[in-house]
Amino acid sequence: MAYKDVYNAWKADPEGFWMEQAKAIDWVEAPTKALFDDNAPIYEWFSDAKVNTCWNAVDRHVEAGRGEQTAIIYDSPITHTKRTISYMELRNRVANLAGALRAKGIEKGDRVIIYMPMIPEALEAMLACARLGAVHSVVFGGFAAHELAVRIDDATPKAIIAASCGLEPGRVVHYKPLLDSAIDQATHKPDFCVIFQREQEVARLIEGRDYNWHGFQYGVEPAECVPVEGNHPAYILYTSGTTGQPKGVVRPTAGHLVALNWTMKNIYNVDPGDVFWAASDVGWVVGHSYITYGPLIHGNTTIVFEGKPVGTPDPGTFWRVISEWNVRSFFTAPTAFRAIKREDPTGEYVTKYDLSCLRALYLAGERADPETIRWAEQHLNVPVIDHWWQTELGYPAVANPVGNELLPVKHGSPAVAMPGYEFKIVDEGGNTLPPNTLGAIVTPLPLPPGTLPTLWNAEARYRKSYLTTFPGYYETGDAGMIDEDGYLYIMARTDDVINVAGHRLSTGAMEEVLASHPDVAECAVIGVGDDLKGQLPLGFLCLNKGCNRDHDQIVKEVVKLVRDQIGPVAAFKLATVVDRLPKTRSGKILRATMVKIADSQDFKMPATIDDPVILDEIRTALQAMGYAK
Ligand code: COA
Ligand code: AMP
Repeated sequence: MAYKDVYNAWKADPEGFWMEQAKAIDWVEAPTKALFDDNAPIYEWFSDAKVNTCWNAVDRHVEAGRGEQTAIIYDSPITHTKRTISYMELRNRVANLAGALRAKGIEKGDRVIIYMPMIPEALEAMLACARLGAVHSVVFGGFAAHELAVRIDDATPKAIIAASCGLEPGRVVHYKPLLDSAIDQATHKPDFCVIFQREQEVARLIEGRDYNWHGFQYGVEPAECVPVEGNHPAYILYTSGTTGQPKGVVRPTAGHLVALNWTMKNIYNVDPGDVFWAASDVGWVVGHSYITYGPLIHGNTTIVFEGKPVGTPDPGTFWRVISEWNVRSFFTAPTAFRAIKREDPTGEYVTKYDLSCLRALYLAGERADPETIRWAEQHLNVPVIDHWWQTELGYPAVANPVGNELLPVKHGSPAVAMPGYEFKIVDEGGNTLPPNTLGAIVTPLPLPPGTLPTLWNAEARYRKSYLTTFPGYYETGDAGMIDEDGYLYIMARTDDVINVAGHRLSTGAMEEVLASHPDVAECAVIGVGDDLKGQLPLGFLCLNKGCNRDHDQIVKEVVKLVRDQIGPVAAFKLATVVDRLPKTRSGKILRATMVKIADSQDFKMPATIDDPVILDEIRTALQAMGYAK
């Protein structure tokens, strides 16, 4: 069906459209209607249904005779391991794990934090929670103990499931000491922890609190799927906001099932049985939607890849995985391609593999620069599909719906609005702007099924962050424009969020850490352009009066502080000491102007600037670091 027919079908009858898509889900009790708007502008979908996510992602495929099909391929160049798990095995493994969790008291609605690397057990832990109706919250392994502690205190989990270690090239990430330290730091204490001992590092367990993954499953009754209400939270996933307190995005169960299932064919163009690969991490929303839930709900085979685009062992590793496992659709972040292109500019490694199985490449998580897209098109010889979405939304909102119709690709644009969205570009007063004019990207409420109904424990913050600036609309936090053909262009964030190697990070959170250094009186963190990672955080430090310590030493200390407090994923390595920060007369730091100077772009002198001379000082400091050319 042509894209415009699908989109118009949604527009003519949004509720009918989603009720139709809901037929692909196995309900315990089918929803009697789609939208629940009694509490608008807080909306819910399919609230009166009863359903179980694990049943839909696992058991129903076994019941339908697909038990022998591979559900999960584990390919770990970092440990030299390959393994496949069929749907039948997955069902048994998940049912046993869920049974063991239930035996220790985990029930519907309890929170469980999962802190694990890219191993199949991470998916099994997520599915075991879903089986019981427990609400998981996966925490990315690149975060430090403090970030884990913040999430423990917000989600108040009854249990934490972790692995003994993660593996980064040349380095073992010692998860267990990080976990122990996080539990020490947190006010809330979980009842128990389950530790998956990896052979690369066996962790010391704390008697009475920690259980061994295998041992604690011994002799338990496998658990059946527990039906939950359609609006029951499937999971909480924390994402960066403007402050150090992350936002707990709540994912509602029924809408999540319906919407993800719809995207697998309509956007990713795979049929049940096809191999789908998202090279991301379960700690991010891409990992939730397109490593775990989307492909499994749709009956695909998913790949758990534990490695990097380069160096594990070479820039041909993606091509090896695609060709070896017959991948149909492949999803990754543009930064991964930039890393490969840097090491293999002529695409020599691509030619070593037969990639005829691959039908399309999907990129998201950050802006896909046209040069990277062209390189991928030229070497892979398949459509390269940029698409845009956010943790909050859970699945693509702007895309090229390849399964309906491959629309013309315009480099630099993730293409057009998907059903559920009618994006507009507005000015600060909420007035709609004409085509090709930069402004804030908004879409009218209600958002479609599966998107966030609220933030965990923070409804006021939800309303303030997304619903208040432009009443009646969802504020995406991104700025961009729409052309005459309805193609969106995403240009920048409107808040203090930056995007480093496809990872969403808060400069506000980094500033809070820098400000805690005893010699720092004031600071600012901005995102500066980087050829590989898209952006990198860069800190400016104003020191306390009378501080005459060596600046290099202070910079080293704040870099370590961010790594220890937020984690290596912050990639915070650049900082400089300056005398003053440029501000408006009312005292607001002019971060956006600093970014423009750093990136050597033209800028308009802000009318409200207090002292323009400070900008010259900032330029000089940036030039000394190789920026502001
Ligand atoms: N656990 C622990 N540490 C982690 C981690 C994890 N799961 N993931 C990353 N880190 C660490 C890295 O080891 C690195 O540490 P270092 O400072 O000691 O080198 C640091 O966090 C920064 O990581 P990253 O920004 O990813 O840089 P990198 O140099 O390790 O790798 C790329 C660069 C481009 C290869 C890598 O960013 C990549 O593969 N990106 C793909 C993006 C992606 O999957 N995004 C997900 C959203 S779609
Ligand atoms: P996350 O919530 O981590 O998925 O990050 C979402 C943010 O990443 C968006 O709000 C954008 O700022 C950015 N982003 C995601 N996909 C794209 C894309 N295709 N093009 C440009 N920016 C993107």
